[in-house]
This record gives sequence, C-alpha cells and structure tokens, in this order.
Amino acid sequence: MLGRSDEGVLLKENGLDVPLPDGSTAYFNYYWLRDNCPASFDPETRERVFDVFGLLEAPKPAAAALVSDYLEVTWQASGHVSRIPVAQLLQYARPGQRPDPANLPRQAWFSDHYAHMARFSHEAVLHDETARRDWAGAMLTDGVALITGMPDTDAGLTETAGLLGYVRPSYFGVTFEVKTHIKPTNLAFTSKALPLHTDLPSEEFAPGIQYLHCRANSVEGGDSIFVDGLAVAEDFRKADPEAFQLLVETDVPYYCEHDTFDMRARQRVIELDEYGNVSGVTISQHHEDIFDMPQEDLDAYYPAFCRFGQMMRDPKYVMRFRLNAGECIVFDNHRIVHGRVAYSATSGERHLRGCYTDRGELRSVYRVLAGEGRFK
Ligand SMILES: [Fe+2]
Repeated sequence: MLGRSDEGVLLKENGLDVPLPDGSTAYFNYYWLRDNCPASFDPETRERVFDVFGLLEAPKPAAAALVSDYLEVTWQASGHVSRIPVAQLLQYARPGQRPDPANLPRQAWFSDHYAHMARFSHEAVLHDETARRDWAGAMLTDGVALITGMPDTDAGLTETAGLLGYVRPSYFGVTFEVKTHIKPTNLAFTSKALPLHTDLPSEEFAPGIQYLHCRANSVEGGDSIFVDGLAVAEDFRKADPEAFQLLVETDVPYYCEHDTFDMRARQRVIELDEYGNVSGVTISQHHEDIFDMPQEDLDAYYPAFCRFGQMMRDPKYVMRFRLNAGECIVFDNHRIVHGRVAYSATSGERHLRGCYTDRGELRSVYRVLAGEGRFK
C-alpha cells in the first residue's frame, strides 16, 4: 500500500516517512517498526518476544498516524496496532549506536598518578552505591583504583571483586597467591623482578579486570610498578604512526606451558575500540611465544615492538609505589601494564592474593548504577 496516511505520515513500499518534532522527516523500515513495537518486549523479562522470523510476508501497514507522542501503525495481516513512542523514533532517526553511559572518555595518566589515584574504602564500596558507581567510573576512565581497609580474610578479595562482576577463573584457578612458591610455575611466584606485563595473554580472552589484595608486605624491595598502556600507546601513535599501525594489526603468539597446561593464543599489542581510540595493550615478554610471522615482516615489526616496549619504560609513564597490607589494587588488565621490582624473600613476608572479573560486567555495573536503561 502506498500513499499518505494521517498526520503527514507517508507510506512507501518498504517503509514510511514520518515528520518528527525537531522539524525533520525520517524514514523507518516496516520490519524495524514491527520488530521494535513496544509490545515486542516482555515487561517482566524485558526480552524481545516478537518472532520476526515468523512473519510469512513482509509487514505492511493498513494505516499509520501520529497520535499525540506516538506513531500508531495498524498492520494489514494481523490487525495488530503498534504504538511506538516518538522519542524512540527520534533516537533511531539517524544511524549510530545507542548512547552508552559506560562509554566514558578514558583519561591517560603518568608517573605522578599515585597521589591522584581514585581511592575507596572497602566499607564504602560494599555499602554505598554512589561509592561503587564512582569506583566503576574510575575503572572506566583511569583503568585503576585502590580499595583501602580490606579485611585480612580470603573472602575479602572475592567479595570485593564480586561487586564489579563474577569472579572468573583462569588456568591458575579461581584465585591465585602471589608469593614465593617452592616450585614456581610463574615468574610472579618468585622474588625476582617482574617486568612490566599484562596478565595471561595466552588465554583466548585474557582476563579483563584484575584484583590484587595485599595481605602482607614487610619485605625489602618489591615495590609495584604500574604504567598506563593507553598513555604510552597514544603518545606512540603520534611519535611513529607506521609502527603504531603495525602493533595494531599484527597478531602475536603467546604461550604458557607447564606440567598440566599448554595455553596458546594470539593477541595484538595495541587494541583499538570501535571509535579508533586506544582501549588497551597486551605486553608480556615472559609469555611471548617464538614469533612465527614471516621473517621479512619482522624486519619492520621487531623495531616497532621494541620501540614501544622501551617507551613504556620511560620514567615519564612509570608509577612506582608500595602496596600495603589491607589495600587491594584493582586495574584493567587490558590497559594497565604492571610489574614489581625484586625483593629479598628472607627479609619479611610478601603475599598478594589475586583474582579477575571481566570488562563487560564492569560496564554493566556502571550502566546499572549510573545510566538510564531502556526499561527504566
Ligand atoms: Fe601480573
């Protein structure tokens, strides 16, 4: 059916033109209108319950009109009337992703960040939703925050991590203990210096958010070193755009192999988000597999890779601090590169207990606490 319906709505072959309150006229496809009718969503589960695959013919309207703040469409085959809020039409009149409250601008930080690092007490994040929202927000903008006043219990870590998502295991288990192990399976489990790295790049999806709860730190040495990989990568892009592109495009093999596991995955050193902004880095010399790319490609790749790795060590970027008992440092494992200086294992006790959650759940927590969901 072609023609003009009421209130200036123009019915076309596959969709309709509707005048909007901002003075523009926008086109909407009939499938889209039928599929996204408010009645297509179950009010309890909030899930879509309309079966667009069940349409035996393309949906066609018998009539359509603007009625107050709604576009009313009466469908030919079923007689169903869709009442679609004009506000929904305005939101989708131009192509583009649905606004995301968790899409906060990331803020690069440098060596002096320790004094400015977002800090929240364990008590606050546990009981105060505003503190929890601000903590999640800091994780999205800065990629790092410190939780203070942690209880000296095993449950303290998982309870804290559980506020930003479900604790996700790795091939080291649900949690891990960073202390001097008698038979270490990882450099972290020794007292040696631990060069700057992100964790577990040999996993297909390396963990997103890392929690390190300091239970004891009375040793000589063992300072933590943290770098904002995003700050380095954005500067690297300006300094050497071609090298930057190589690190964005090249898959690098990583491994982690011991008696009971043989993990392998490929990652890119610099990760971009859908807008082309740097969203993360992957660095781990001790888990980097022997490069298997064409040797000729390595003529350009190695110098770019090394230049980036050297830039990361520039004191301009390195935040060095001591993690104290009762603190839990929380950081984006895809963005924040971390390590520690060597310590004397016999000079005292050093024990960090760690676990991971994922980035998607962090954003979900932030949206719930800060956003206005479609069903609110
Ligand atoms: Fe680590």
